[in-house]
Amino acid sequence: VIEAEPGDDLPSWLLINRPTVDRRMREHGAVLFRGFGLGEHKSFQEAQNALCETVICGYGDLPEEKGTRQVYGSTPYPANREILFHNESSHLSDWPTRQFFACVIPAEMGGETPIVDCREVIRRLDPNLVEALERRGLLYVRTFIEGLDVSWRDFYKTEDRAAVERICEASGDECSWEADGTLQVRRRAQAVAAHPFTGERVFFNQIQLHEPHFLAASVREALLLVYGPDKLPRNVLYGDGEPIEPEALDHILQVYRRLAVAFPWRSGDMLMLDNMLMAHGRNRFKGARKIIVGLGDPFSRVRQGATQLADGGALGPA
Ligand SMILES: [Fe+2]
Repeated sequence: VIEAEPGDDLPSWLLINRPTVDRRMREHGAVLFRGFGLGEHKSFQEAQNALCETVICGYGDLPEEKGTRQVYGSTPYPANREILFHNESSHLSDWPTRQFFACVIPAEMGGETPIVDCREVIRRLDPNLVEALERRGLLYVRTFIEGLDVSWRDFYKTEDRAAVERICEASGDECSWEADGTLQVRRRAQAVAAHPFTGERVFFNQIQLHEPHFLAASVREALLLVYGPDKLPRNVLYGDGEPIEPEALDHILQVYRRLAVAFPWRSGDMLMLDNMLMAHGRNRFKGARKIIVGLGDPFSRVRQGATQLADGGALGPA
């Protein structure tokens, strides 16, 4: 936690202190800036610009805040449901290595953004499961069902099917269209990665956001009934297409829960995560809650780690 002294302005403070901040982030995985008043778009953007080489604009999975291209709203998801731990975009071919959350309005109750050290997750998981996940990798299957999730047009920012096919091909994804225009994308990805700068092994995936095991039973059963197991909006399997065992999924959930760290948000707080060292989630909440999100310093598996992934293994150091 870095707390502001009276009169501190974060961008100028970082001109001197950025190396220390980066060192602490690599060590702890996360840094919380408190008292710098970073809950406004302008100061939040300035802080991101001062802490990133590259700020990511046009990210398809989060709603953009009006009047800006680099500030997003947090995931719109019912307040009475928890968002389980995940690393941002770890199911895609490119992901941010830094992620920022700033608090505009803290919830009246709950609404924390809990975090987990993914190096520690690897140490606590059953080594046989880690070995299986590392060797077999993951297969994410996403079916863009209109009205149920982000539409493919919004996700890929185009109306053109051929453009979607080109994007998929460039990132190594397989895509297919149903007769009714529904798009399905199948993507191989890592479950365990090596951090590009520190080389540390990290549990790096979105198993909990994609595997229907983690949905409420009533929702899971309804989805299976309506769409069937092959057309679920999201699913994740071992890389060879076999389902991940329910006991393994329960074990993953328990390890995350045991290691979770959470703090109550204060207005103006900004949390910076190393997205490969830390997974994040969202607790249930009551009342108005507004957290804004920023993403920076992208890493591309396709451009930098493709050979390590070709055999289903972990992402190697860049
Ligand atoms: Fe997220």
